[in-house]
Amino acid sequence: MAKRNNHRRSTMLSGAVMKVGRALWTMNAVPKKAVYGESLRSFSGTEFRRWDPSRSKLGAAIMRTRRDPSWLLPDEGTTVLYLGAGHGTSISHLHDHLCGQENELRGRLVAVDLAPRCLRELTHLAKSRPGLIPILGDARKHAAWGVLLPRKVDWLFQDVAQAGQVDIFIAACKRFLNRDGTGLLSLKAASERWTGEGEEALFDKVEYKLNTSGFEVEERISLTGFEDNHVLFAVRKME
Ligand SMILES: C[S@@+](CC[C@H](N)C(=O)[O-])C[C@H]1O[C@@H](n2cnc3c(N)ncnc32)[C@H](O)[C@@H]1O
Repeated sequence: MAKRNNHRRSTMLSGAVMKVGRALWTMNAVPKKAVYGESLRSFSGTEFRRWDPSRSKLGAAIMRTRRDPSWLLPDEGTTVLYLGAGHGTSISHLHDHLCGQENELRGRLVAVDLAPRCLRELTHLAKSRPGLIPILGDARKHAAWGVLLPRKVDWLFQDVAQAGQVDIFIAACKRFLNRDGTGLLSLKAASERWTGEGEEALFDKVEYKLNTSGFEVEERISLTGFEDNHVLFAVRKME
């Protein structure tokens, strides 16, 4: 549950994620270090990093959800799976929340990406952020890296921006997500093969497919304004 704190117009979404007016901040797990040029600022003597929602689908969804935004975050100190880690922008904020400084919360953030260049950056990031586990791998090929997740997780995020995103997500959730767990699928319309239908029709089809594949779509969050032509589907695994 979101808690109010002393800062005017500010809301703590977790121990480390704070919304101040229209801006999102996370408590910096590596003080004095920015990850992607974001601003650093002290609130009551504690340093926070500004989370730019136009560079992070997770950040954009937190800003756009019509529900209590904290429901999109995993529990602190748990193990989570993130497919399509990119250069680590969202990952770094998620790490602030999940692990904290020197991984005091004992979280595990398993971050998979196909691109060696991304892996180099993630590996560098992981040196100062214990709990972050970068994996060079294909989200579709579980056999190559699934051994690193011997138990299912309660939170899975996917942002691979490639054709077949929904099938990749469904297969990953079936294998790695606990029943009742939260799955977040960031869907880029342009990555799917064009079949002549409009974007909304494509999103409707995806929602139907998720709802008939053992999930309940709890919210379909349009990221327009932060990431045009993107929707984030937040689902609960039902079986
Ligand atoms: C849009 S970027 C991710 C950005 C990141 N989620 C963020 O918010 O900071 C998509 C990433 O997915 C990766 N990717 C694409 N297909 C993949 C696959 N099959 N398995 C793993 N990663 C994949 C790309 O290399 C790219 O880094």
